[in-house]
Parts: sequence; structure tokens; C-alpha cells
Amino acid sequence: MTEIKIKTYNSESLIHCGVGAFSTFVHALKDRQLFIVTDKNVYNIYGNLISETFGGASVKIIPAGEKSKTVRRLTEILQAMADAGMKRGCTLIAFGGGVVGDIAGLAASLYMRGVGLVQIPTTLLSQVDSSVGGKTAVDFNDVKNLLGTFYQPEQVIVDPMFLNTLPAREIRCGLGEIIKYGALDEDIYNKLLKNSDNLYNFEFLEEITSDCIRCKAAVVLKDERDLNGIRKTLNLGHTTGHAFELYYGGKSHGEFVLIGTYYEMFIAKTLNIAGGRYYENLISLIGKVIKKIPAYDDIEQAALSAKFDKKNEEDAKISLIVPKKEGECQELVIGVEEYIKLLAECRDTVRAGI
Ligand code: NAD
Ligand code: GLY
Repeated sequence: MTEIKIKTYNSESLIHCGVGAFSTFVHALKDRQLFIVTDKNVYNIYGNLISETFGGASVKIIPAGEKSKTVRRLTEILQAMADAGMKRGCTLIAFGGGVVGDIAGLAASLYMRGVGLVQIPTTLLSQVDSSVGGKTAVDFNDVKNLLGTFYQPEQVIVDPMFLNTLPAREIRCGLGEIIKYGALDEDIYNKLLKNSDNLYNFEFLEEITSDCIRCKAAVVLKDERDLNGIRKTLNLGHTTGHAFELYYGGKSHGEFVLIGTYYEMFIAKTLNIAGGRYYENLISLIGKVIKKIPAYDDIEQAALSAKFDKKNEEDAKISLIVPKKEGECQELVIGVEEYIKLLAECRDTVRAGI
């Protein structure tokens, strides 16, 4: 079992990671007034475990998927907490993937100006990334994660047992974020290369999960509130990924992150920021997870959604975080016209099968 601590100015977040984490750490929560948020799919699989473990705790079940990250669902959660008579000292447990984690985290930060929060992430993506670091959100005004808070969970219980029921597609989504960490951290990059034929092996995933969490924890410690540019790096591949996610939909966040990383890698290569074997290796890792990169017809329109990315500081400029070399990335700020042109070039290359 790995224990990772994120101690920031006014909070401490303890991450328990490994086989047995759930059974070991949930019992200590039982004496508290608990409110559980989960989604329909997760409840169908783990409803019994939830009631056996948390007894009479109130449970709010939201529909599964990104479409639930709305103010309306947030209000429903808050209403259910009020109806259940939750007190200032209660603890909200986010039991599910990144969608549940983001919206439940936001509810915990708002209810009575903040109640206890424990994240129990059940997807690979939420285990390696979203449950850690305290970002909470809902989508608003057609912009992803436009409303949110920074609110550290007091504990994150990362147990790989939940991956046993996860569809293969969701494992691929988690691998998308893991490859992102490979582009940020040289040790993770080397481990990914060494295990490139082993990416779906559960023991490997367990090991790399704690590596990614450690990497994220180090970033969050240096820039909890996304203020000095360090935390921005966690958005590698996300500017384009989010733009495509908003415009096209129909795939999950992790898939769009991978597609976005592919397109942004192309931009980095074209602008001579990344290249050679490093570039080829990252592209080949992406290829191990997503077999066919889409060559979108109306990519020029989709690209416009990137104008609303929160990283952009100037109108008409797009901010991207791109890999540079092993363990190093950089921010690239380019004009919207150039961004659209480069994306279209990448699309044409994909289409031509080059
Ligand atoms: P998700 O929460 O929608 O889960 C994916 C699917 O898997 C859902 O259908 C869910 O019901 C199902 N599922 C969850 N656990 C399962 C299990 N153990 N067995 C079977 N099915 C299970 O999506 P996600 O990929 O976990 O998270 C994506 C979200 O995370 C996005 O909204 C993204 O914006 C957010 N995110 C947030 C951060 C952050 O720092 N806060 C970071 C990355 C991503
Ligand atoms: N996943 C982006 C962040 O936590 O900052």
C-alpha cells in the first residue's frame, strides 16, 4: 500500500493507494454522518457494497456520464443533502469516476461553506488523476468545468479492485491520462516504454497509478490554485481534447485527451518543439491505446471551442501545453488562425495515412 500526502497551506489530503485500501480505510468513516454520491452504473454494480459498508447513510444517485456535470444536478445533490439533514460535521463520499468526483467535490465545498470530503475513485482515470488535487467542477454555458472550486479531499481511497468491473474502453481512457503523465515525467515515460506491451496488465496499472499520483501531488504542492503556471502542465493535450469533446461529444474525456495529445504533438513537431525518437515513442504509446485517430471534417469549427479554454490569457490566442523532451513540456501560445491551420494540417496527414 502506498500513502501519499498533499499538505497545502490550509489543508491536508491523504491518499491511500493499493489493493485492500477500501476495506482498510472505509471503516474509520463509519462513525460519521455520511452522505454518498454515486452514479447509476456504479450503484448497479456496487449498491450492495455501499449499503453493507455504509449502512444507513444517505445515497444520491446521479445519471452516469459527463451530461450530469451540470448546475441542475449539483443543486439536486445539495437539496438531497439538506433534505437528509446533513450537518456541518458530515462527510460527503464521492464514490465513482471523475464525473461523480468533480460534482460531488463541488457540492462538498459549497454545502455549509464546506464539509468533509472523501474521494473513492472507481475508474482508472479518476484513480490516476481526477480524485487527487482538489479541483471540483461542473460544466456551464457550454464550457467544460467553467464553475468549480479548489477543495482538497481529506482522504482519497484508491483501490484497484474497482477496475475489475471497468469496461475496456474506460481502461483506455485512464491510459490516456497515464500517457499524459509519461509526457510530464521521465521515469513514468521510461516505465511506459518498458511496459508498452503490458499496458493493460492490472499489476502494471496498480504500480503506475501510484507513480502518477505522486507526480500529480508534487505539481499540486507547487501550485495548488493553478496560479504560477506549474499546474497548467497537467492540462497537456487538454486544450484540443476539451475543444473536440465540446464540439463533437460521443467519446469520453480520456479518449479526447489522447486525441488532443496526438494533435498537439503534431503541432509541437511541426513547430520544431518536439521530434525524433521521443516524438515517435509518444505517438506509438498513443497508438497502443487508441487505434484510429479521427480525421474530423469540420475541425476548423471545432477548433474555435478552444478559444474558451481557461488557460488562454489573451483573446485570439490559444494556450497549449506540449511535450518538448523527456520529462519536459512547455506552454505554447499561438494565434487562433495558426492553431486552426496546424490542426487542419494534422487532420490531412491523418486522413492521408501518413
Ligand atoms: P465517468 O465518471 O463518466 O466514468 C466513466 C464511466 O464508467 C461511467 O459510465 C461510470 O458510470 C462508469 N464506471 C465508473 N466506475 C466504474 C466501475 N468500477 N465499474 C464499471 N463502470 C464504472 O468518467 P471518468 O473518465 O472517470 O472521469 C471523467 C471526468 O473527470 C470528466 O468530467 C473530466 O472533466 C474529469 N476530470 C477531472 C479532473 C480533476 O482534476 N478534477 C482531472 C481529469 C478529469
Ligand atoms: N487535471 C488537471 C488538474 O488537476 O489541474
